[in-house]
Amino acid sequence: MCGIVGYIGSKNAVEVILAGLHRLEYRGYDSAGVAVVRDGNLEWVKSLGKLTALDKKLEEKPLNGPLGIGHTRWATHGVPSETNSHPHFDMQMEIAVVHNGIIENYQELREQLQKEGVTFRSQTDTETIAHLVRKYYKGDLFRAVQRALQDVTGAYAIGVVCKHNPDVLVAARHGSPLIVGLGDQEGFIASDVPAIMKYTRKVLYLDNGQVCEIRRDGYRVEDIQGKPVTLTLQHVDWDDAAAEKEGYPHFMLKEINQQPDVIRNTLRGRVEEGSDQVILRDMNISEEELKAFEKIVIVACGTAWHAGMVGKYLIEKFARTPVELDLASEYRYRDPIVPKNTLMIPVSQSGETADTLEAIRIAKKRGAKVASIVNVVGSSVARESHGVIYQQAGPEIGVASTKAYTSQCTAFALFAIWLAETRGLMSKSQAKELIAYLREIPEKIQWVLDNQEDIVRCAKDPKYLEAESALYLGRSFNFPSALEGALKLKEISYIHAEGYAAGEMKHGPIALVTDKLPVVCIAVQGDTYDKMVSNIQEIRARKGIVLTVATLGDEDIRAHSHDIFYVPPCYEPFSPIVVAVPLQLFAYYVAANRGCDVDQPRNLAKSVTVE
Ligand code: F6R
Repeated sequence: MCGIVGYIGSKNAVEVILAGLHRLEYRGYDSAGVAVVRDGNLEWVKSLGKLTALDKKLEEKPLNGPLGIGHTRWATHGVPSETNSHPHFDMQMEIAVVHNGIIENYQELREQLQKEGVTFRSQTDTETIAHLVRKYYKGDLFRAVQRALQDVTGAYAIGVVCKHNPDVLVAARHGSPLIVGLGDQEGFIASDVPAIMKYTRKVLYLDNGQVCEIRRDGYRVEDIQGKPVTLTLQHVDWDDAAAEKEGYPHFMLKEINQQPDVIRNTLRGRVEEGSDQVILRDMNISEEELKAFEKIVIVACGTAWHAGMVGKYLIEKFARTPVELDLASEYRYRDPIVPKNTLMIPVSQSGETADTLEAIRIAKKRGAKVASIVNVVGSSVARESHGVIYQQAGPEIGVASTKAYTSQCTAFALFAIWLAETRGLMSKSQAKELIAYLREIPEKIQWVLDNQEDIVRCAKDPKYLEAESALYLGRSFNFPSALEGALKLKEISYIHAEGYAAGEMKHGPIALVTDKLPVVCIAVQGDTYDKMVSNIQEIRARKGIVLTVATLGDEDIRAHSHDIFYVPPCYEPFSPIVVAVPLQLFAYYVAANRGCDVDQPRNLAKSVTVE
């Protein structure tokens, strides 16, 4: 998730772009760059690190011009570096492109372009767009972009300028956000409204597959095939603070709502078109190695450890390989046994968690292969691992992890399918069926997001809002959901909450049940449903308050529950990805109603870089 800003008009584009990029820095911040067209020249400055590094470079080497594009990067392909930062250029350095998104067929395009004589400078997917635009450029930048995009599959929001077209800024989008702002004899593009709110409130929201040519005195929009499109100009009346969170009161709520797109992005580029074969190239694991692993060790902390538990269940179910799940802080201090042919999968959103890093070092020293699931590209965990699955979830700003968790579970699902297929334990048709289930998940999450009335109502209900303590119960695939639901509630609302495997209920926790104790029971349809219903009855018999997460259409469960959060029917092994969402929303609304600082809970840091 990167940030894009572009400008055409009579102001100094660099000033407009920098001001806009600073408003978008929450979208990504590993490197930044800007390019301007002035007097028939294309000039640029790029810098590694936060935007302030680019500001500093521009102070030393000022740039000026009435047309330009800029970018703040959140790496998806290629480590954060000056070479990989945007803008990217064609070979002649005449066309500049900034891009947010993921080009799924970039490898193919890259190989094709290389055959045609193109030399690449970076490892990014974006650079292919610059070379493609050049390939089709015959003096009309708008047409060249349109034609280039016909070759591209994946998600993009792009801004393009060419030194031979000083009066044209071209923008296009598919799957990634992009808006066009219109002013008096000037135009803007941006990933998000806050970037240009200082200059204009008149905005066009480009839709998927649309390309826009912006001139000082007007604009035109067409689809990539050249069919004209009419868009309605919108007026934005958000205030500044709300705009960065896209109108949400907290980043956590915004991130919960991003999950349908996040899951799509985690899947993006990982399933081969047509064959439905899972491909996880960046894991750097050969087919022989994959077949030879005798043991898998998953290490992580907190929420990432809960995702690891989902991963363990998935890998063991599909790929029949023993998985050891360990808290990174325990692994590093317990002299672990690392037999030969061990694969370690560390899981970390930030990629900077100290215990996880130390666990990696120990496992590597003892001969394990390490391939991590990480969100932040180029982070320490990614760098110290032999391979990686990047989550492609975009920056997570709320301290409580939400979208990173569901995306980590999705990454595990992909890995488990890949492993099972490679080991001959899953047929092509079974894999195809599972991938179809995964592809349905974003819609199921969207259903939960669109039907939150019961969650909002319960979060105001004193029996939950004023509870001192809560229990969360789940079985099998949804045991980790119970752990994660409880962690979410306790860390942001400060209500003491514990997650338990429901089968453990009778071994202790049942002593806590009173008419003051809410017990959140995950009882979605699946192999353990009947067992969960028995647990619920036991809690009811002791007057506990039962809040059930159930499958839409399950009316029988009403008789046993005080309240119900429904989720759409879901293939049980993948149901934790959907079940997480009502639990996140519930924790969020309870915390917000209790007046807690949701995005920055007390005593917590987003990444724990010390022991
Ligand atoms: C809880 C939460 C933490 C993190 C944990 C690991 O909402 O965010 O429990 O999951 O600190 O962090 P990463 O994934 O960055 O290694």
